[in-house]
Amino acid sequence: MIPALLVAATLTAVAPQEVRSADVASIVQSRCVSCHQPGGDAPFSLATIDDLRARAKTIVAVTKSRYMPPWKPVEGDFVGSRRLTDREIETIERWVNTGMLGESAFAPSGLRRDRLGSPSMPDPDLEINLPAYTLRADGPDVFRNFVVRVPDGATRWVRAMQFRPGNRAVHHANIRVDATPASRRLDDEDPAPGYEGIIARSADFPDGQFLGWTPGQLAPAPSDESAWRLRGGTDLVVQLHLRPSGAIEHIAPVIDLYFGDRAPSRTPVMIRLGKQDLDIPAGTTGYISDSFVLPVAAGVLAIQPHAHHRARSVEATATLPDGSRRSLIRIDDWDMNWQDRYVYAAPVRLPAGTRLSMTYTFDNSIANPRNPDRPPVRARWGWRSSDEMADVWLQVTANSDDDREQLAREISRRMLYEDANGIAVLLEREPDHVNLRNDAARIEMALGRPDKALPHFEHVRKLQPASAAAWFNEGTALEGMGRARWSDAAARYAEALRLDPNYSPALNNSGIASLKAGRIDDARLAFERAVKADATNADARANLGLTLIAAARSDEGLAHIREAIDRKPELLGGLTSHVLLLAAHHDPSARRPAEALALAQRVAAVSADRAGALDALAVSQAATGDFTAAVQTAGAALAAAPAGNSELRDAIRERIALYRNQQPFVLKQ
Ligand code: HEC
Repeated sequence: MIPALLVAATLTAVAPQEVRSADVASIVQSRCVSCHQPGGDAPFSLATIDDLRARAKTIVAVTKSRYMPPWKPVEGDFVGSRRLTDREIETIERWVNTGMLGESAFAPSGLRRDRLGSPSMPDPDLEINLPAYTLRADGPDVFRNFVVRVPDGATRWVRAMQFRPGNRAVHHANIRVDATPASRRLDDEDPAPGYEGIIARSADFPDGQFLGWTPGQLAPAPSDESAWRLRGGTDLVVQLHLRPSGAIEHIAPVIDLYFGDRAPSRTPVMIRLGKQDLDIPAGTTGYISDSFVLPVAAGVLAIQPHAHHRARSVEATATLPDGSRRSLIRIDDWDMNWQDRYVYAAPVRLPAGTRLSMTYTFDNSIANPRNPDRPPVRARWGWRSSDEMADVWLQVTANSDDDREQLAREISRRMLYEDANGIAVLLEREPDHVNLRNDAARIEMALGRPDKALPHFEHVRKLQPASAAAWFNEGTALEGMGRARWSDAAARYAEALRLDPNYSPALNNSGIASLKAGRIDDARLAFERAVKADATNADARANLGLTLIAAARSDEGLAHIREAIDRKPELLGGLTSHVLLLAAHHDPSARRPAEALALAQRVAAVSADRAGALDALAVSQAATGDFTAAVQTAGAALAAAPAGNSELRDAIRERIALYRNQQPFVLKQ
């Protein structure tokens, strides 16, 4: 070991070199000016040498302490890393200590780009203005959700998005999409623009994307590969973290959208590690950990840790099946105010079987200078900044659509279990909160536990006995509990329709009941009413499509099906009967073989009922005259059909015999 004294002596022995102002200028330009420029995200400009001179002493202090530039990760190879090297910090200090010589002018390219960092970037295809909000002069930070409607129109693929805060009181933004009216309703209940508190469960990041903004963040360049789907007429839910500045501020951010018309070849998946059953006693320190084993190989594109003030550090690692470890990120001095999304310079490729893990250290004692409570109090999970959170989000891509499906299925189930824990904590505090109760119930329904959903729905129905939705929801849980409760369910649905004869989900359900009873015309009328009552009800629309085709009104039916899928792409997997009717209707004038085939291919790509979907695809192939393909596909359907389902297996075998004789399959009347 080299004695410390000797090292110091060696260092001082080096003759101080003169530092060129151009060296300092290039550091400041690349690491500071993105925020410190006129109109930028920082409170003053550092865009000229004179600006630097005026603040020289503080600049030395904040760079040495690594307070500036804000860049928290000490591990991970990320795009746009602002971290200064020790040498760069020393260069700044020496320039200041040797008289701040030089006249180096900063190149204008470091100056703020208004549009996506490139002067050649055209105007956006769509500019969305948030409703203007007046922020009070002082008091604690404000977290507020603003709901803005995307103008009606076709579904587009968003290749790039730029958030322009317009005011430095905006500290960060998260942007979600809500295809349902739930967020808008919450906003409407609050007289001022936006609302505070819980974000509706239906408001979510679009498929596999983080959408947000933090100070100094450069919007990624437009690309088809990171495009996300946005339907005209849906709502963006923009969550702003606002910091009162001492003066009343007018907040009116703008969102620029750049459209393309292509879906990405691979849609990423979001993996959230984290715990929601947090319970941190006052005065204690400790760890919170979570891990998940990747069922398939994946590439990690980006990472975003999220916690509040009691977190002190966070680390995420990947442990490969061979036992080797890769650090994904490490932040030693967690600061809620400087959280960000970090994009890897190259995707971190991980084989199947890799364990992703995260650990936060927490300090809920007085020793944590950021602890919001003095004296400290027990902290539990929650969205408010006075509560605590402990998540690490990873944006990953899988190598195939099948892998993606498997990963998405496993992780979403896991996240739902954790969500259920979180909601339980919030409900302890607010047991009569209707939205929370409904969310808790919906999570249980999604987890396939209708018996656990029922008490929540029941609770809401008792709170709101005049609400058709409350009665209806209770009915769905009862229906899910099995045949023995179906009559109870039917009674709830009937009550919902009595309270509101135009309650769309109940009309849809009564249509399904008619369909099951073979009363297809009644069913169609009910679906028609359901769609009329709520044009956004995609389930009812898909059902209406089915009954219209059955009535030989195929073109109308197809139009409804297209719109239903557009509104709710996850419906696709359930459209097997639609395909069969289109391909093999008993009335030849109702058949649409080409459309059936196109739809069948999409259904087969995503359907959980593989045998049924492949069988329908084979029927469509035969309908277009491609019997060779039909025989082959039907063979695959047979292989996928469960051994116990002899009815389906026999039916497929009969159809294969038809195809071999160059005959299509036709449904009986
Ligand atoms: C991501 C945006 C961003 C970048 C990049 C950035 N700053 Fe800052 N800086 C801020 C903000 C915002 C503030 C004011 C809020 C605060 O002090 O936390 C600030 C404050 C400062 C202060 C005042 C600190 C004080 O205690 O009064 C100095 C000095 C400073 N920055 C220097 C720098 C230097 C030098 C760089 C580059 C090496 C840099 N900043 C890069 C956003 C940034």
